[in-house]
Amino acid sequence: MEKQGEQKASRLVFVLYPFPGHINPMLQLAKILHSKGFSITIVHPEFNSPNPSDHLEFTFIPISGNLVESKVSPGDFFDFISALNKNCEGPLIECIPRMSKAEDHRDQISCIIYDGFMYFAQSVADQFKLPGISVRTSPAVTILAFAVFPRLHEQGYMSFLESVSQDQGPELQLLRLKEAAALTRETTTYAMLELRAALTDSMKRCSAIIVNTVDFLEKEALAKVQELFSAPTFTIGPFHKLVPTFSSSLLKEDTDCISWLKRQASKSVIYVSFGSMASVDEKELLEMAWGLANSEQPFLWVVRPGLVRSLNCLALLPNNFQERVGERGCIVEWAPQKEVLAHDAVGGFWSHCGWNSTLESISEGVPMLCKPFFGDQNLSVRYICDVWNVGLELESELERGKIEKAIKRLMEETEGEEMRKRAILLKEKLKLTLREGGSCYNSLNDLAEKILSF
Ligand code: UDX
Repeated sequence: MEKQGEQKASRLVFVLYPFPGHINPMLQLAKILHSKGFSITIVHPEFNSPNPSDHLEFTFIPISGNLVESKVSPGDFFDFISALNKNCEGPLIECIPRMSKAEDHRDQISCIIYDGFMYFAQSVADQFKLPGISVRTSPAVTILAFAVFPRLHEQGYMSFLESVSQDQGPELQLLRLKEAAALTRETTTYAMLELRAALTDSMKRCSAIIVNTVDFLEKEALAKVQELFSAPTFTIGPFHKLVPTFSSSLLKEDTDCISWLKRQASKSVIYVSFGSMASVDEKELLEMAWGLANSEQPFLWVVRPGLVRSLNCLALLPNNFQERVGERGCIVEWAPQKEVLAHDAVGGFWSHCGWNSTLESISEGVPMLCKPFFGDQNLSVRYICDVWNVGLELESELERGKIEKAIKRLMEETEGEEMRKRAILLKEKLKLTLREGGSCYNSLNDLAEKILSF
């Protein structure tokens, strides 16, 4: 990549939101901009801290989020974000003058690039008259959801896309069909409204917006975002494809599963993972296990610590399950997911539809069996199943018979084969955006120029 930023202030201060689904894409983005010649400082709360020795090219500054004193737990999602935004502001304000003392002009701060959930960083940027850049690690359509939700709530509506999707094309219309029901399951709390309003407000004041998405995947949503916010939007996703050898996993990856994959037939394996946050109960874990066993399909299953709350999950699987599946099943606590999805043996991905997993799956042309749990997963599933048509949804509760049937539909039947073909076309289309002249390639160059113009 062409190096830029040689003459001007070129230190970028990144502010992380401390969960793996957000830390990973933010570190990937930092790495991408580092390759463009910018220096990187990572400011992060002292919770789920990234390992500095994995990223020697960055400077790390831990700040206290005072989370223990605030008595919030990560499980109370919205209260946790609210506390982080209140408690991290002071420590970030203290850091900035220290960083600004750099004698070399190129080492001065150029701008603050923050995870959209850490919206307080925009106020800090405003205070120091620095440009702020808001990053969405979720699909662009979530920006619309957040923008209209507080107003609709005041008016008594809960279907948040209703107002933005009227008179829109087929993509937003399709998203609208089922998402309302899914989102209204979430109880509306003050902290939830606060997050949505504050995030939207910070995006109105920022100097640029970066979304980990691809133009052609979310054409209509991106056009609408550009209408709602005056800051330019840069879509340089999927970030992970621009830094292929980069891993920032907080959990140790079990690479033995790659040797197991090598022994499996092409496109025969269903890979199963629900990301880093979703959880099931003990009964659901057993239904999953027997659904997988009864499908007779080879499977690679990530049973991470915490998948079943506060229990040693692997110990919950009965002995006769291990005997039944034998060599046909491989179970790990954490997998090198990007490598797994790129492996020829993998023919399907049973996923919770986290946005990173979604982008990683379509980047490798792998069709999906979808079981969304919360938040943006309820929107990503609509893209996967209704807009791009590369997956099917497991709509019911987790029950072994329904799981077995859904796996067979995806892995063995013509319907699944058609989805696999469309997923491969999507993968090829996506590759073109990364090449010289492609939308992602151009957007990245435009972003680097924008930062240099500050
Ligand atoms: C969370 C939310 O749940 C998600 O909806 C939101 O879009 C981002 O924040 P998470 O649940 O972790 O993220 O899901 P996802 O976004 O899919 O990210 C999971 C990441 O962990 C992926 O990058 C995946 O490659 C990685 N992973 C997962 C592994 O490396 N190994 C595994 O075994 C499982």
